[in-house]
Amino acid sequence: MARKVAVVAGGHSKFGKRYDATMRELCAEAYKPIYDEGISQDKIDASVLSYAASQFTGQGAGSALIADYIGLHDKPHLRVESACTTGTASLRAAWGMVSAGLYDVMLVLGVEQMNRVSSATATEYMSQAGDMRWEYPFGISFPAFYALMASRYMSEYGMEHDILAKIAVKSHHYGAQNPKAHLPKEVSFEEANNAIPICRPLNLYDCSLITDGAAAVVIAAEERVKEFTDQPMWITGIGAGASSMMIQDRSTLTSIPGAKRAAQAAYKMAGVESKDIDMAQVHDCFTIAELIAYEDLGFAEPGKGPELVENKENYHDGRIPVNVDGGLKSKGHPLGATGVSMTYEVLKQMKGEAENPTRQIDDVKHGLVHNVGQSGQFVNVFIYERGW
Ligand SMILES: CC(C)(COP(=O)(O)OP(=O)(O)OC[C@H]1O[C@@H](n2cnc3c(N)ncnc32)[C@H](O)[C@@H]1OP(=O)(O)O)[C@@H](O)C(=O)NCCC(=O)NCCS
Repeated sequence: MARKVAVVAGGHSKFGKRYDATMRELCAEAYKPIYDEGISQDKIDASVLSYAASQFTGQGAGSALIADYIGLHDKPHLRVESACTTGTASLRAAWGMVSAGLYDVMLVLGVEQMNRVSSATATEYMSQAGDMRWEYPFGISFPAFYALMASRYMSEYGMEHDILAKIAVKSHHYGAQNPKAHLPKEVSFEEANNAIPICRPLNLYDCSLITDGAAAVVIAAEERVKEFTDQPMWITGIGAGASSMMIQDRSTLTSIPGAKRAAQAAYKMAGVESKDIDMAQVHDCFTIAELIAYEDLGFAEPGKGPELVENKENYHDGRIPVNVDGGLKSKGHPLGATGVSMTYEVLKQMKGEAENPTRQIDDVKHGLVHNVGQSGQFVNVFIYERGW
């Protein structure tokens, strides 16, 4: 019989171009608030390191390095890798171990240090998550995958780029209120709509950032939760989905089939529907990805995501607040840390602890995390429920 599992604490480093810190120091920065809350190393049974691409630092065996640096060298650890979903894949692995009774308390730590190399090299490393024989050599890097989706969405539904610019304006509006964000600045609609092209129709403000940073959460089995908090965030739904390796094999480009399957599985397991969700952290690696997520998660009908954007239903006081921490767009996207950072934000919002009241969502009972790897090969959707 599976045990109930809750997120009981979280920590977060500053995201950005962190030339001041090594990978191990970023991890320590994310673990420190957890330690300060009283969850010292002796209370943690095992850890999972979410670290997507060792090419950036050249560091192999990352979980051994990090466990050693933060004082968990004598506890079991492992590393998980699944492109941009590495954070939630790590959490899924840890949840499985705690739920099955292998451990009671686990630390999930996500990190990536992407700025020790140029943007061109970073683009190449990220592209290695695609098919290195049949995609990358033909110029299909990440911006290109999502530009294909944006072009198709525009042609099928007649959408103009201004909708994507409005998503970027929203993300930067909230990122500007998040002290942990990589690029905490407001942008105007004109700036976002007319920025330099990166891969048409996507421009600079349609792209997420190349970021260094770390985030951490601690999960615990039901029997142990009270030792750590009286505000547990229960993990009630986990759905995983997959789509074809190559984008050309998809039957649609205006939806990510694996995301729909992941969402349906997560809703079913949690016993809720999309209308019950009070906030969502979605994988906006590009603005078009956020738009498609609204539809894949059931917040809007196919082709109707633009209406949700026009009506500002995605703002903190709207029907379904999305990425009010700035998202991957403004808070940043350090690959291995991203899914863990999304989870941290749901915990923060549930506890009413957003740094700024202008980005605090009122009364969050159910939160959702949607984390996509590559162009949709892997997708994890988590549903969380407030436990107090
Ligand atoms: C768009 C991109 C190519 C820009 O990289 P770049 O040209 O090397 O940009 P730089 O780091 O030199 O920064 C140049 C300026 O643009 C800004 N900038 C960089 N990326 C930005 C972004 N994504 N959004 C907004 N501004 C950005 C910088 O802040 C800097 O501004 P400044 O001149 O006022 O200081 C890069 O951000 C990118 O590849 N993003 C996508 C990452 C990705 O694919 N992730 C995986 C997705 S699943």
